[in-house]
This record gives sequence, structure tokens and C-alpha cells, in this order.
Amino acid sequence: MTLESTQDTSQLDKALLQNSSQSRRSLFEIPEGVTYLNCANMAPQLRSITAMGIDAVRAKATPWTIPFSQWFSQPEELRSLAAQVMGADADGVAVVPSVSYGIATAAANLPIASGQSIVILDREFPSNVYAWRELAKKKNGRLITVVREPGENWTGALLRAIDETTAIVSIPQCHWTDGSKVDLELVGDRARAAPRW
Ligand SMILES: Cc1ncc(COP(=O)(O)O)c(C=O)c1O
Repeated sequence: MTLESTQDTSQLDKALLQNSSQSRRSLFEIPEGVTYLNCANMAPQLRSITAMGIDAVRAKATPWTIPFSQWFSQPEELRSLAAQVMGADADGVAVVPSVSYGIATAAANLPIASGQSIVILDREFPSNVYAWRELAKKKNGRLITVVREPGENWTGALLRAIDETTAIVSIPQCHWTDGSKVDLELVGDRARAAPRW
């Protein structure tokens, strides 16, 4: 994948979106007659992203053709773009090979004392569960799996669960099973404000 091809394909996306005779459907591999709504577990992929993925796999087959500068410039560009989407800054974005790898890295580095708790959501995707289960066992901590009361949303249930024993809260921006949202700012504020023992 080259920077030029990234720019070309995003310009292609823009051109297609501006052309009223083309539906947004044509940007994806979704055929007429298929309605695909699952963006919480596996979102549909833009054709341009598929093309970039294929370019990247091809480039990896001939690594001697990849200019040295690209090893660093492309991940940095990716971090900046991802940060813009999230309204964050690039230094807060890490590029990792998988969710389980990223969570395992966090679990290996975050401090937790005996008796403190780690908070996760009920029916969370396994990549965000096993490393915390192991850490809680190793440090004699508690893994709290947050369950919603009838009529309650995830944010409310999390706010109930966070207290002075909370060391780590590991949550997504929406639940993968149904796409229901979590208010990360509210939960983050509560986690930072909770008194520490
Ligand atoms: C909610 C959620 N988290 C994480 C992942 C991927 O986890 P990993 O990168 O560890 O395979 C998926 C994959 O479908 C997912 O749906």
C-alpha cells in the first residue's frame, strides 16, 4: 500500500458519494436485495479498503520494494487519522495486531493491588475478557462483570459498578452483541473521580 494509493482511493470514495446517480451501496460489496446492519461485530468493508488490504498483502510479498520511510510514516498517518475520527490525539492511539494482543499488553502493564477490581461488561467479546481474568487471579484482585438491570443501559450499570476499589475499567464504545452504546466520557469521568483506597 502506498500513500498515493490511499489518497487515490479516498478521492474515489468522495467522488462516488458526490455522484447522486451512485448509491452508497456501490461503495461496498453489498448486493441489491441484501440489508446488512451489523456494525457492532463486523461492519461491512468499503471496496477501497479491500483494495488497500490487497495492496498491503502484495507489498509484504516483496518487502525489499517498501521504502524505509514508509515503515514509520504510514503507521503515524494512520494514528493521526484514527485520532481525528475519535476526537483524540495521535499519541493516545496505538497500532496493535489484534484486540487480544492490545489488551494483553495493557494487562501486563497496568497496576492493580490485591483486593482491587477490574470492571468489564457482561457477554463481552473474549479478547477483552481472558487477560483480565488471568490478571485478577494473579494479583488476587476481583473481576467484576457488569450486568444491566431491566430497563437500564450499559452506562448506568457501569456507573453503579465503579467504586473506590476499581483499578481498571476495560470497555468498548458499544456492545458487540447489539450495538448499544456506552457513554465513555461519563464512565471515564466516574472512573477517574472515584476515591482511591
Ligand atoms: C467486539 C469484538 N472485539 C474484538 C474482535 C477481534 O478480536 P481479536 O483482534 O483479538 O481477534 C472482534 C472480532 O470480530 C469483535 O467483534
